[in-house]
Amino acid sequence: MGKTAAIRVLHTAAECFPLVKTGGLADVVAALPKALRAAKLDARLLLPGLPALREALKSPVEIAQCGPAFGAARVTLLRGLLPDSTVPTYLIDAPWLYARPGNPYLGPDGREWPDNLQRFALLGWVAAQLAMGELDPAWRPDIVHAHDWHAALAPVYMAAHATAATGVARARSVLTIHNLAYQGRFSAERFGDLQLASWMSSPAGIEFHSELCFLKGGIQFADRITTVSPTYAREILTPAEGHQLDGLLRHRADRLSGIVNGIDTAIWNPATDTAIAAPFDAGHTAGKALCKQALQREFGLRQTPGAPVLGVISRLSPQKGLDLLLSALHQWLGAGGQMVMLGSGDPALEHACRATAQAAPDQVAVSIGYDEALAHRIIAGSDLIGVPSRFEPCGLTQLYGLRYGTIPLVHQVGGLADTVVDASEAAVREDRATGFSYRGAHLDELSHALRRAIDLWHNPPLWQRVMQRAMAQDTSWHAPATRYAELYKGLLGQVAP
Ligand code: ADP
Ligand code: GLC
Repeated sequence: MGKTAAIRVLHTAAECFPLVKTGGLADVVAALPKALRAAKLDARLLLPGLPALREALKSPVEIAQCGPAFGAARVTLLRGLLPDSTVPTYLIDAPWLYARPGNPYLGPDGREWPDNLQRFALLGWVAAQLAMGELDPAWRPDIVHAHDWHAALAPVYMAAHATAATGVARARSVLTIHNLAYQGRFSAERFGDLQLASWMSSPAGIEFHSELCFLKGGIQFADRITTVSPTYAREILTPAEGHQLDGLLRHRADRLSGIVNGIDTAIWNPATDTAIAAPFDAGHTAGKALCKQALQREFGLRQTPGAPVLGVISRLSPQKGLDLLLSALHQWLGAGGQMVMLGSGDPALEHACRATAQAAPDQVAVSIGYDEALAHRIIAGSDLIGVPSRFEPCGLTQLYGLRYGTIPLVHQVGGLADTVVDASEAAVREDRATGFSYRGAHLDELSHALRRAIDLWHNPPLWQRVMQRAMAQDTSWHAPATRYAELYKGLLGQVAP
């Protein structure tokens, strides 16, 4: 490949905002290829043909028939564009495996689909076929960039093909771990369904603690492994945060790095956001007060500008630490604070959130469900955004908060540690502070941070200073996309220009 040719990179994942989303992965998958194209790379997407994507794909062109595969008789590779996107998108049309409504991973009974092994093996397998130049005669990637366990077999199939074939320049692989807790583990008895050579069933392949583990395979075979913040990249090397994969990650540590996510600053822009009550920006913050008033009114909270509103938008899972926040809340409410929470997930947590709101209806409002527009209204109308996660690979809501002058209050881990500068006396004085960041996922530490937030709230000039510093922080994809581009160049042996 000539030095001036655009790098061809194929991103592959199970989710893509806004059509299929269970978390921040979807946002990254929609935004990063777009940012790479803006940086003049030839970035494309490969996604499973889930109904929402299949129905939305515009001008689909049939590229190849690749079935039968993984139990599906008909597997067709399509290429087209998703709405509002300029990223060429390949979709695997395999109705037998993908034509199921709702959550991409779970059936109507709330349990994993029993054939998730086949459903996501197919994704990695097609990525590898594309990388071998076997499906699209007009385009072959230099790099396959797989996200999370769903796509993590891509590097495995690429390695398997590479040992079987000769004469074709091998595409390189990158695996990004968005959350090490989700690994794609299956019974070892199902190895035969993977269409892999038998040696791959050993510890040198994808065997892991007597099971099959997609993420382990990806970590083992990817040319580079990234995760979504430098701090998380260090944390996962420890037994405490390594989810049993720390040993392998330490073994591959020279291939591992962390790049903090950006956010789509066209979608998350308080000056142009049509979902919020009034626009605002760092120079004109009057609109933010109107957004707060509208939020208080919408949720029947006491309408006082003097009460600090703490917003929370989150999956309700133990990772997110909201049980701690609920326990710490009485003191916040006692000091006149309010809270608006949007989330769904664990039924016991949903119940606890509802109960908290019922006990203090003019100070706490909880909306159980999933609602993008409401997420925007909460980010815009709150004074603080709370992210008390026990661990957090990157986290996106604190980035939205920074952009909307909604000061993050976070546990100092993972991407939260890398994106929020604590309002210590020195940091405020030196005009570096962007939020509150506490160490230790314990009630005392969280309560102390909430107390400090109340104190700062009662000092409006200092609050404004932190808010302005937060809004001045670059949260766009520009810098992260540049870093990914550098990583690809390094892999392809190109020198940075
Ligand atoms: P994770 O991916 O671990 O859930 P992130 O902070 O990276 O955490 O991303 C979560 C994304 O999902 C954000 O875009 C956030 O706004 C969104 N989100 C989470 N819960 C909800 C909800 N109940 N309604 C709307 N958006 C939500
Ligand atoms: C995962 C992580 C989250 C991260 C997101 C996008 O869901 O839990 O921290 O922001 O992926 O990378």
